[in-house]
Amino acid sequence: MSSSLDHLQRHHGDFTEFRDAMIETSAGRFGPIWWGVWDQHVAPVEPRAVLDLGTGPGLLLPMLRVRLPEARLVALEVQPVMLETARAHADDADAELIVADLAHPLPVEDAAFDVVTAVMVFHEMAFPPPLLGEAFRALRPGGRLVLYDWVRWDLSDYLGDRDLTPDVLQHFREHCLFSPDDLAFLCRRAGFTPVEVVGRKGGHFAILVVEKPAG
Ligand SMILES: C[S@@+](CC[C@H](N)C(=O)[O-])C[C@H]1O[C@@H](n2cnc3c(N)ncnc32)[C@H](O)[C@@H]1O
Repeated sequence: MSSSLDHLQRHHGDFTEFRDAMIETSAGRFGPIWWGVWDQHVAPVEPRAVLDLGTGPGLLLPMLRVRLPEARLVALEVQPVMLETARAHADDADAELIVADLAHPLPVEDAAFDVVTAVMVFHEMAFPPPLLGEAFRALRPGGRLVLYDWVRWDLSDYLGDRDLTPDVLQHFREHCLFSPDDLAFLCRRAGFTPVEVVGRKGGHFAILVVEKPAG
């Protein structure tokens, strides 16, 4: 757990600032495009149990509760500042919040979830591919993973009018590593079948929906 926390510390520095930024930007992240994808590609699996990986401040949980009044909601997070805020949202949403490092086997049962969400967390991990295997294990056959993250774009575009500092370059490496096709490739390697890929913000982000095959 401590190596993941060290890795996150290098990525984010001040976690209070980062938590506040995640709260401020949540309306955009979980806006009409997200819920459009949800309604079209996730709601049809009739979720009765949802697992949110790297829930951060836990803002998705109350929104899920509105749509899924009867569902079991479980959220995993490792960072203490995030956990503190997530605790209140999890309580409000009647969700289970578990302290867990996503770099290790997840503390959840096999095939226990209809839906797994991973929003803006994949790029934060030093070696994220095994997380897809764990999401696959946690899903029931026919269940779906929603993977929403940064995808590759040009350095000139990423930089805008900022200076190219070592810190900015490091963030570029982390944010702009995988293309949408790379993410789909990694999901297929983990056993998933891609269902939909939706670009966001001019291709700076992608929302992938992939399914654990039913048979
Ligand atoms: C960019 S935030 C997104 C939070 C939330 N999903 C959202 O969209 O509002 C990513 C979150 O993933 C968490 N995270 C990153 N690596 C993790 C790990 N190895 N184990 C658990 N949580 C992790 C971070 O602490 C952070 O709260």
